[in-house]
Amino acid sequence: MSDAHTTEGRPSPKGLVLAGGKGSRLRPFTYTGAKQLVPVANKPVLFYALEQLVAAGVTDIGVIVGSTAAQVQEAAGDGAAFGARITYLHQPEPLGIAHAIIVARDFLGDSPFVMVLGDNFLRGGLTSLVDRFRRGQPDAQVHLLRVAHPESLGVAVVDAAGRLVRLVEKPQEFISDLGVIGVYCFTAAVHEVVAHQQPSARGELEITDAIQGLVDRGLRVDALPIEDYWIDTGKMSDMLEANRIVLETLQPQIAGNVDTASTISGRVVVEAGAQVVHSTIEGPAIIGAGTLVERSYIGPFTSIAHACQLSDAEIAGSIVLERTVIDGVPGRIEGSLIGRDVTLRGAARRPRAYRLVLGDHSEAQLP
Ligand code: TTP
Repeated sequence: MSDAHTTEGRPSPKGLVLAGGKGSRLRPFTYTGAKQLVPVANKPVLFYALEQLVAAGVTDIGVIVGSTAAQVQEAAGDGAAFGARITYLHQPEPLGIAHAIIVARDFLGDSPFVMVLGDNFLRGGLTSLVDRFRRGQPDAQVHLLRVAHPESLGVAVVDAAGRLVRLVEKPQEFISDLGVIGVYCFTAAVHEVVAHQQPSARGELEITDAIQGLVDRGLRVDALPIEDYWIDTGKMSDMLEANRIVLETLQPQIAGNVDTASTISGRVVVEAGAQVVHSTIEGPAIIGAGTLVERSYIGPFTSIAHACQLSDAEIAGSIVLERTVIDGVPGRIEGSLIGRDVTLRGAARRPRAYRLVLGDHSEAQLP
């Protein structure tokens, strides 16, 4: 379906979305779930990448999966819901982002492709980036963002013509403040490079080495600055930030039931089957399908997933995953990411001690 889509320049590239990996920075969520499925405004972060690829004309998409393959496949299906055709590509071990290109070799054939990290979020979408790649016809294209802490990213040196000169992974010394974000456009030239690549000190085939390898071979790698918000949702604080950004653009909609004793203000979505009883919701906020909110306050920048129960609770600036119960908790919950099937109850009787069952790598701050 995609190769027929030729407006200008090259035919539509294929898509390659990475949804494998270890997810060690997002534990404990990633013990039981793929980090690409943690929801932002009640939608898995992976879905934004799939939707944005389709909007950019990229519909033939390979999705790299690892140990959480079953969940990712169940969530994204064959891609029809996105207007795409998804081919799942199994990466036996997370041996690096460049390794994923080797895994996808047969799927990609000689097609140019757009590679997106499945836990990265780019607010403005991919259309202008992909159009530029098709028109400009470089051998590869990377996307740069001016960042305050370039030492945590791949960092680029670019010449006056916007060509990539050098790319260094997490440089110890300042070389520029241009960080490379998790969206890359490649032609088939990259296959030759990754096939000969050696693992880095951490044992992975690094994407920065693959891109530097293209430059070293004298190929043209364009470096496109982007102005928009980009977030690598790999850490908890980044998830909350992405949630905030998406909720800001929420289209208000009340499909569930809100009783007359409740007050709703700002951008609020109450999904079908949700019930809001004797509560106050200050948007932007989203309440998932089938969730009950009673005698509670839901503050700005909060996403409550489906089938939760919140009673006598106050929460703001947080993400709550599905089927969680929050009942009679004293004080306000803020800036929190609460997982699936969690029960958080206030103690009705004395002693009012903390009684906690926190999984490995949990984090809690008590007043
Ligand atoms: P990273 O966040 O760089 O790696 P990770 O998933 O191992 O996470 P952590 O550092 O928290 O342990 O990966 C970026 C994206 O690419 C993410 O969606 C996972 C995916 N990925 C793969 O699919 N295969 C891989 O071999 C690697 C390294 C990452």
